Amino acid sequence: MNTKATAIAPSNIAFIKYWGKKEESLRLAKNGSISMNLSNLTATTTIEFDSKYESDNILFNGIHDVNVSNRVSQHLDKIRKFAKINKKAKVIIENNFPVATGLSASASVFASLTVAGCASVALKLSEKDISILARQGSGSACRSIPSGFVEWRSGKTSETSYAYSLYPPDYWEVYDVVVIVSKAKKEIGSTEGQSIAKTSPFFQTRLKDMDGKIKLCKEILKRKNFTQLGELVESEALEMHAIMLTSTPSLIYWTSGTLEIMKLTKIWRKEGLEVYFTINTGQDVHLIVQSKDVSRLKTKLEQIESVRDIIINTPCGGAHLIDKHLF
Ligand code: DP6
Repeated sequence: MNTKATAIAPSNIAFIKYWGKKEESLRLAKNGSISMNLSNLTATTTIEFDSKYESDNILFNGIHDVNVSNRVSQHLDKIRKFAKINKKAKVIIENNFPVATGLSASASVFASLTVAGCASVALKLSEKDISILARQGSGSACRSIPSGFVEWRSGKTSETSYAYSLYPPDYWEVYDVVVIVSKAKKEIGSTEGQSIAKTSPFFQTRLKDMDGKIKLCKEILKRKNFTQLGELVESEALEMHAIMLTSTPSLIYWTSGTLEIMKLTKIWRKEGLEVYFTINTGQDVHLIVQSKDVSRLKTKLEQIESVRDIIINTPCGGAHLIDKHLF
């Protein structure tokens, strides 16, 4: 029996980044990664497979976008194959935050799509298998399935490349304050950017010690040492952007607003406000901060002209079903 199903999933921020694939179509990452789910950046997806639909009908944040529709349809094909059905589907996906600005919308989208899609065709998969399936829609989506602080083991095969929870959301009150400096959409998405990572002369050097970085990050999480976490997260973001900047063609995701926040972060640290930045594929900035410093940071950000919006996130649970459908 196929029914309508709706799921909500968070985006996540990678402390240790996924950048570069060893297999493109299955989205097998070159290296493992570690992330935290973000409570106030979400995607909600409602899906219904029914023989009344002649083709997949996908509405993404209010628009029918051909590229998004093709990618979502390909993901639906995987669910159809699993469920042994060939019915088409109606899908509505809504994000509660700007997309294509560096806030990892695809992670939230493909995590919610996978959970809702499987439920709508009564496919009962383990968390691990849902993570494997979500990964094939967007790599970072596999990390939005489990709860809280998450590790994605890169694995050697599709079956061994999945994410699992290291710690629940309430393990550590780390805040991620998202700073929106522009709502302009990036020109080159993560999938395309990742495919040229190997053209950077520094890519192989980066890969040499990714296992060591993962180990270090896990030790820091275990000890809950905020200073060490912040230092690691900031240097890791800069290292990934060094790969982007030196790829052919070069990828420059930062805008003047991004740089302003990066520089201010360092100044604020010197002044005793302990905050660290990390940035993905886009201009918007994630600021990692402890709960005691959130309101001080917010006050500072509100005084900056280039800051359009601020979204405060805590660690949260992973993708799950909800009752309120979008259609
Ligand atoms: C910089 O998961 O969006 O955010 O698998 O091609 O969909 P695809 O890539 P995607 O890449 C995420 C890149 C990143 C780092 C990270 O989240 O680990």
